[in-house]
Amino acid sequence: MAVDLLLGLQWGDEGKGKIVDVLAESYDIIARFQGGPNAGHTLEFEGNKHVLHTIPSGIFHKNKINIIGNGVVIDPIIFANEIKGLKNYFLELNKTLLISKKAHLILPTHRILDSASEASKGKNKIGSTLKGIGPAYMDKTGRNGVRIGDIISSDWEKKYNNLLKKHLNLLKNYKSLPDYDLQKMEKSFFESVEIIKKFNLIDSEQFLYEESSKGKKILAEGAQGSLLDIDFGTYPFVTSSTTTAAGACTGLGLSPKKIKDVFGIFKAYVTRVGSGPFPTELFDKNGEKMSQVGKEFGSTTGRARRCGWIDLIALKYSIQINGVTKLMMMKSDVLSGFEKIRICNGYKINNKIFHYLPYDINSNKIKPLYDEIDGWKENISDIISENDLPENFKNYINYLENKLEVPIAIISVGPDRKQTIFRKNF
Ligand code: GDP
Ligand code: IMO
Ligand code: MG
Repeated sequence: MAVDLLLGLQWGDEGKGKIVDVLAESYDIIARFQGGPNAGHTLEFEGNKHVLHTIPSGIFHKNKINIIGNGVVIDPIIFANEIKGLKNYFLELNKTLLISKKAHLILPTHRILDSASEASKGKNKIGSTLKGIGPAYMDKTGRNGVRIGDIISSDWEKKYNNLLKKHLNLLKNYKSLPDYDLQKMEKSFFESVEIIKKFNLIDSEQFLYEESSKGKKILAEGAQGSLLDIDFGTYPFVTSSTTTAAGACTGLGLSPKKIKDVFGIFKAYVTRVGSGPFPTELFDKNGEKMSQVGKEFGSTTGRARRCGWIDLIALKYSIQINGVTKLMMMKSDVLSGFEKIRICNGYKINNKIFHYLPYDINSNKIKPLYDEIDGWKENISDIISENDLPENFKNYINYLENKLEVPIAIISVGPDRKQTIFRKNF
């Protein structure tokens, strides 16, 4: 049986959490394949609003299995808090949530190193969520990391201390360090590690292989977005994992042959949190309106998200790299009331036109080339059938589908599970 992937096509926060929660009903297993608690995936249903960081977004469906894959980096402290936050939902997490033994751990000192590294970059900082992501993945690829499987091994303390020693030496290289109380952080870390030990720690690639051989349906959930990918994103203003489709193969141990649909999620406009190029960024009333109506504040850090018009150059690039088979357009309701909607169809750089994301992407040098279409006034957040959508909204969809050459199968018109329009082509 095949596996479907779901991933963000922009700079994250496209609404992955909401859609995974909506789609989870049709799958047996939901598996997160990369990233860590830099992610904030928001779900809204039956009057509840919940933000998940490490735990897959299928968790509220009681009869489904959720897996934290080997490609994820786990901060035990944040994980333990997430578990506490789920207490009132009476989920049998020790049965439904499984963790790969090969997932790497984020140590308290990874977080300190992340802060120290960002501070040392001054105005060139990445705008990291400061969750220790970069340093944890560096230790993974540097072959120094500690993994979930290590916490149940006899030499766990030795492994932890070896890495701690390395980190303390590294910290000596930084001129200014953030304030921290390592003893307090470690106490909370080791208490949280005990909580992780109560879960099913498994070889998730084997589990997924066996379950898919039995015909079980798997949905792989990505974090961040393609433009934050370590290789294909706007480097160095990216995260430290493979956020694109290939990341699902390495982050879960899946064969590419098993992948069927690749669902690509995008907002009807664009947002970005943190530093880095953003060619269609707005600094005017339109940008402010997107920010206010779309409540564009980070789910993990609370930082204001930068807003701008949709960028089809970047979107096409992401579709191409991921092999997207179906698109899902999120936050369509936020664009109601704009007189004109602008759509970026090209970049002009030093009088040369580009139709792809060039190596040297620097917003200051890029002049986005826009098409403009008429907006719609109607509030669309209660619409449940695509036939009832305003004509000008339908024009927007047709325009995008023509340019992107991939069907838009889902239109999201609000944060709640129910505010989701499945089109005939889904
Ligand atoms: P993720 O990281 O991709 O899961 O996205 P986030 O949860 O960080 O950010 C998406 C935000 O938009 C959350 O606050 C969602 O509740 C909200 N959201 C998702 N879909 C829609 C939508 O169609 N309309 C509106 N207005 N909000 C949405
Ligand atoms: P979800 O899964 C939006 C951004 C940070 C920063 C850069 C590097 O909710 O879509 P890191 O903490 O990884 O070192 O930060 O990446 N970033 C995100 N932006 N959504 C996310 O996750 C993000 N995870 C990281 O703001 O610019
Ligand atoms: Mg988010």
